[in-house]
Amino acid sequence: MPTVVNVDGALVAPGEARVSVFDRGFLYGDSVYEVVRTYGGRPFELDRHLSRLAHSAERIGLEPRWPRDRIAGEIERTLEAARGGDTPDPAAAPWNAGERYVRVVMTRGAGEIGLDPALAIDPQAIVIVQPLQGPPRSAYEEGVKVVLAGPPRPSPEAVDPTAKTGAHLPHVLAVREARAAGAHEALMLDARGFVTEGSSSNVFGVRAGRLVTPPLAAGILEGVTRGVVLRLAGDLGVPVEETALRPEDLAAADEAFLTSTVREIVPVVCLGDARVGTGRPGPVTRRLHAAFRALASARD
Ligand code: PDD
Repeated sequence: MPTVVNVDGALVAPGEARVSVFDRGFLYGDSVYEVVRTYGGRPFELDRHLSRLAHSAERIGLEPRWPRDRIAGEIERTLEAARGGDTPDPAAAPWNAGERYVRVVMTRGAGEIGLDPALAIDPQAIVIVQPLQGPPRSAYEEGVKVVLAGPPRPSPEAVDPTAKTGAHLPHVLAVREARAAGAHEALMLDARGFVTEGSSSNVFGVRAGRLVTPPLAAGILEGVTRGVVLRLAGDLGVPVEETALRPEDLAAADEAFLTSTVREIVPVVCLGDARVGTGRPGPVTRRLHAAFRALASARD
């Protein structure tokens, strides 16, 4: 069975997985999470994801139900239980066939209703493993459209964007806008109109052979894939500039792309109604994705 849920150590079928309606993850988004993917059935960059989970928990003062070693062990156990049973998808990118999406969720727990975190007495640990559904092969071959989300995202002073918490309503609404515009992803702007990141991705441009991407100080999640891409750019001798970007900078770029665990590197060829670059995936994006594929395949 390719989908298995681990609820506090018990492995169950998706339809059997339950948490309390009093859980603060459900009531307030008072939780932290990570999304990890497999290559060859094994988690990719697990250490970095577990470090980010610990960072997220620390930032909101949440004590995870399980220590780090136990989380790694439970991911392993859940992956093992979710082996096999895939339905082939002809539209899928070939490197996603048979691979797994792993979502780790730690909530502050259930308790009497009330905002006070001290009311939480029953923290939850959940691991959801299901077939990985990445972008279709066509997204890599033809590129995708992105739009700018309307309202600015909450300021980094108000909500720490380096913490991956369950409080995701601005991201949900950004995706709603993207879908309404027939776009793959929505880019979120800060209050001054600078580009921060996608609803579930980091964003890059290519200008005269140099990679440009918003710095962490722009108020973004420190994407694990972003980190891999920055390292690969170094290996390939592609200069990188972490710099504030306005939408018009991206629109005028030669190339643009998104990065995330589930996407790897997806070329962006349209920003709203404007074409980016030639309107086709560009050479630097292709080179970086080829290098990423080589790295990920070596971990198979
Ligand atoms: N999203 N920015 C945001 C706001 C994200 O939620 C994500 C990841 C990223 C990319 O990070 P990474 O390369 O570590 O996946 C950037 C995950 C995949 C999700 O919520 O589904």
